[in-house]
Amino acid sequence: MDEDTPEKTGPAASGPRDETAGSPRTDGGAERADGPTEDVALDPWGSASIGDYADLFAEFGIEAFDDVADDVTDPHYLMRRGVIFGHREYDAVAEAMANDEPFAALSGFMPTGDPHIGHKLVFDEIIWHQEQGGDAFGLIADLEAHSARGMSWDEIDEHARNYLLSLLALGFDAEEGELYRQSDNRAVQDLGFELGSKANFSEFEAIYGFDGETNISHMQSVVTQTADILYPQLVDEPKPTVIPVGPDQDPHVRLTRDLATRVRYFKVTEAFASFELDDAERRLVRAAYDALAAESAADDGEVDDAETDVRCEDAAAWLADYEPPEIDEESVDLAAAKSTALDKLRAGGKEPLRPRVRFFDRNATEEAFEALIGAVDGEKRVFDGHVDAFDLTRGEAESVAREVEIDHDGFGFRQPSSIYHRFMTGLTGGKMSSSIPASHISLLDDPEDGSDKVKAATTGGRDTAEKQRELGGEADDCPVYELYAYLLAGDDDELTKTVYSECVNGERLCGGCKEQAAELMREFLEDHQEKREEAEELLDDLDIDLDSDRRGTGGEH
Ligand code: TRP
Ligand code: SF4
Repeated sequence: MDEDTPEKTGPAASGPRDETAGSPRTDGGAERADGPTEDVALDPWGSASIGDYADLFAEFGIEAFDDVADDVTDPHYLMRRGVIFGHREYDAVAEAMANDEPFAALSGFMPTGDPHIGHKLVFDEIIWHQEQGGDAFGLIADLEAHSARGMSWDEIDEHARNYLLSLLALGFDAEEGELYRQSDNRAVQDLGFELGSKANFSEFEAIYGFDGETNISHMQSVVTQTADILYPQLVDEPKPTVIPVGPDQDPHVRLTRDLATRVRYFKVTEAFASFELDDAERRLVRAAYDALAAESAADDGEVDDAETDVRCEDAAAWLADYEPPEIDEESVDLAAAKSTALDKLRAGGKEPLRPRVRFFDRNATEEAFEALIGAVDGEKRVFDGHVDAFDLTRGEAESVAREVEIDHDGFGFRQPSSIYHRFMTGLTGGKMSSSIPASHISLLDDPEDGSDKVKAATTGGRDTAEKQRELGGEADDCPVYELYAYLLAGDDDELTKTVYSECVNGERLCGGCKEQAAELMREFLEDHQEKREEAEELLDDLDIDLDSDRRGTGGEH
C-alpha cells in the first residue's frame, strides 16, 4: 500500500524489483482521481495509485459499495462518506450482521515501516466489525515482509509491535478477537499447504506477473495470505467473512475466493435432465420448463414437478420459437446459448424434463460421497460422479453438502467477502507514501510534528483569499478535507458537512481550516499515543512472540 514505483502496464513484477520501495517518486505525484486514466492494474506489491476507482468495477468485477450500503443497519462513517467504495459479496456479511448470525472480519499488515493514518482506516474497519459482533482477526504478514520486501527479522519484530499497539490502542479487543503473526500460526501454514495444492504457477504468472525470477518464498507468502483469509472459517465454522483492504489486495481476494471453491468436496448445481447446462442455457431451459409445466397444470389443475410429463423434445419445440430477451450482463449471451440448449434438448428426446439439484463429487472421499447419498432426503438418483436430488431446494442442497463435507474432514468454506477503501491522498499531493515522511502522518509522529505536517499540507484552495471567497475551494481535491472526512471528524458527520460546504461556498479559508485540522490531529495523536502506552501491558500479556530470535538473511536493502 505504500509503494512508489508506478506500474502502469500490468501486474507486479517480482522479487528484486521490490527493492525500489524506498526510492522517492519523480513525477511529483500529480495523479489525481480525475486525471488521465492510466491502465488499470491491481498490484499488491506495486503502485497504490488508482487512476479511476470506477474502472475497477467494470474491469475486475468489484461491486460498488452503494449497492449494498442500504443493507448495513448502522454503517460506519467510512461507509457513509464513500471512503469504502467497493466490495465483493459484502451482502453476505451485512445479512449475517443484521440477523445476529456469526460472521468474521480479518485483515493483515505488512510490517515494513511505521503504521500510519492510512493503516488506521483498516484498523478501524476490523474493530467496527468486532463491535458489531463479528469474530475479529488482525495479523502481521511477516513472511510476506521478509520474502517480498526483504525486511530483516529484527525490523519485522519492531514494526510488528508498533502495528499491534496501535490496533489495540484504537480498541481491538484481543480477548474476544485474535492477533497473530503468519510465521507463528501453524494452522495457517497447514491450510496454506492444502490450498497451494489447488493453485499452480501459470495462475500466479497470470494473476501477479510472477516469472522465473520470482523467489519461491514470495510465492509461499501468497499461499499464506490465502490461508489467512480463510483462517476465520477454519478456527470455528464456515461463516461470512469480510476482508477490509485497499483495492491493491483484490487479486488475493479473487484467488482466495477461487481456492475456497476448489477445495470443496461437492459442487451443487441445478439441472433438468441427465445432461449438463451452463448458466445461460439453464435460464432458457427453465423458461421452457415453466411455460410447458404451467400448460400441463392448466390441464389437470396443479403443478407438481414429478407429475408433469414435459419431455426434452417438447421443450426443444417450445424453445425453437422463443425469442430470448437481451440481458445486460457480461458473459450472458442468451442468443448463443439458445442453439446449444436446443442441441442438448433435441438429443434428450423423450427423456422427461424435471428440475433437480445435482451434487458433483469434486474432492470428496469415498465415504463422504456415500454419506452424501445417505444425507439426501426424498427422491434421488445416484450416478457415477454425481447425485441428483428431486426434493431439495438449492439452498437445502448447499447445506447438506457443507455438513457432510465438514463431518468428513473437509473445510466447507464459504467464499470470503471484501470491502475496499480509497487510498488517502498524500499531504504533499500525489500518493500517501511511507517513504515520504511529509506525505503521511505516522501514528508514532510526535503530535507537534503531526500538526505541523497538516499546516504544511497542500490544499484545494485558490491562489488568493479573494479568489477563494469568490470561487470557493476545491474540497474534493483537498488532502486537508480528506483528513477531516477519513479521520479527524470521526463519527461527526456535521463537521464534515460544515467544512465541505463552507469550503466550496467560499466561506472558509485554508489557513484557518488547516489550523483547525492541525489542532484535531495533535489531539488525536496525543490521545492515541497515550492509549498505545496503556496497550503495552495488554500486548505483553498476549501470546505473541515479538522477539523472534529468528535466523535469516538479514534483509535486502
Ligand atoms: N498483503 C497484505 C499487505 O500487503 C498483508 C496481508 C497478509 C493481508 N495477509 C492478509 C491482508 C490477509 C488482508 C488479509 O498489506
Ligand atoms: Fe481544503 Fe479547507 Fe482549503 Fe477547503 S478551506 S480547500 S477544505 S484546506
